[in-house]
Amino acid sequence: MCSRFEMLRSTLIFLVILQGAAMVLIYGWYLQVYRKPVNDPAPKVHVLLLSSFRSGSSFMGQVFNHNPSVFYLYEPSRHVWSTLQKYGARTLRMAMRDQIRSLFHCDFSVMDSYLPQNPRVSSLFAWSQSRALCSPPVCPITLRDQFNETQCKMNCNIEGLQKAQEACDMYNHVVLKIVRVYELESLYPLLEDPNLDLRIVHLVRDPRGLLLSRERSAGAFVMDDNILLEHRRVPPEEIQYRVMQEMCRSHVRINQRAVLNPPPFLKGRYKLVRFEDVACNAFKEINGIFEFVGLEMTPQLEEWLYTATHGKGRGNKKEAFQTSSRNATLVAEAWRTLLPYSKVKRLQEVCKGAMSLLGYKTVNNETEQKTLDMDLLTP
Ligand SMILES: *[C@@H]1O[C@H](CO)[C@@H](O)[C@H](O)[C@H]1NC(C)=O
Ligand SMILES: *[C@@H]1O[C@H](CO)[C@@H](O)[C@H](O)[C@H]1NC(C)=O
Ligand SMILES: *[C@@H]1O[C@H](CO)[C@@H](O)[C@H](O)[C@H]1NC(C)=O
Repeated sequence: MCSRFEMLRSTLIFLVILQGAAMVLIYGWYLQVYRKPVNDPAPKVHVLLLSSFRSGSSFMGQVFNHNPSVFYLYEPSRHVWSTLQKYGARTLRMAMRDQIRSLFHCDFSVMDSYLPQNPRVSSLFAWSQSRALCSPPVCPITLRDQFNETQCKMNCNIEGLQKAQEACDMYNHVVLKIVRVYELESLYPLLEDPNLDLRIVHLVRDPRGLLLSRERSAGAFVMDDNILLEHRRVPPEEIQYRVMQEMCRSHVRINQRAVLNPPPFLKGRYKLVRFEDVACNAFKEINGIFEFVGLEMTPQLEEWLYTATHGKGRGNKKEAFQTSSRNATLVAEAWRTLLPYSKVKRLQEVCKGAMSLLGYKTVNNETEQKTLDMDLLTP
């Protein structure tokens, strides 16, 4: 009796397992047949361009943006910070993470919390810098490869975000530029999500160049500085050093997390890029980045890149949120002639760890700073 009951039980267990396996197989088959877009066999890749303010991220974002396979959004997380600006950076991490995840899944409803009612495409921050938002199906007037920001602003401000969502669905790569993420841990669920196939491009810049660039766009960062410093009271002359310290620490945090003993889901998904290397050798660096995320260089993109890195230097002109044609090497080295040594010295103290980790040599005195043929980059 007892042994017959045991047999019955094991038969039942076997049948349940068999049924479970069959369901998994059928569901898998269903997903393959029905979920995959018909004309789009390659799995989607999602790229986070992580950087800090004034680190050449607008330029790098434009490099992605000009690639015809990319759906690019310029800093969507700005909406999170500006809407919830009474909070600090730490509190806003998860809201930002969830927004990033939704946008990667082309779910624009997440923007409801951050945009005015009945939004237009222009409610999205810096929308006209996204080629994808200026092309069909969002904007019927221009073609995918004839992106012109001025014409986009005039013609492409469509009501509602439905078309933006449709456009996002059509591309193989979704790229978001984010300058407000200062650690990797909050992104772990995204890295573990097999549907996202997430790649992180971490763009850093010599803090001395970054400081000069910040000083030139004075006032542009008051809100962001307050959030980053968790609304702590800081003497005005100290603010920029505290902010730089946070940014330098975050570079170290992110890089060490990804490179020293990374969790398995981070392996092969992180690439460090230095702005100065891009400025010196744009083609080589950008080809390396494209390879890392599975994108190809096009002749039009090469042409755009050449113009963008070989234009005229812009001198001291203020340009808080612009990517423009200029001599990229000149921009990268400008701090050496324009920043007083006293500031350089203080900053080097504040950012010592990050500079040594990322390969930026410190200068010992003003003479060294101004000797331009002394190379301050280590490979
Ligand atoms: C973009 O369009 C504007 C207005 O039509 C035009 O003045 C400008 O030259 C165009 N820019 C480029 C790069 O084609
Ligand atoms: C860019 O500026 C650097 C430094 O002034 C100069 O050596 C280089 O020739 C310039 N490149 C171009 C293409 O103008
Ligand atoms: C600057 O520092 C270097 C290296 O420490 C030293 O050799 C040089 O004499 C210093 N120059 C001045 C003007 O102090």
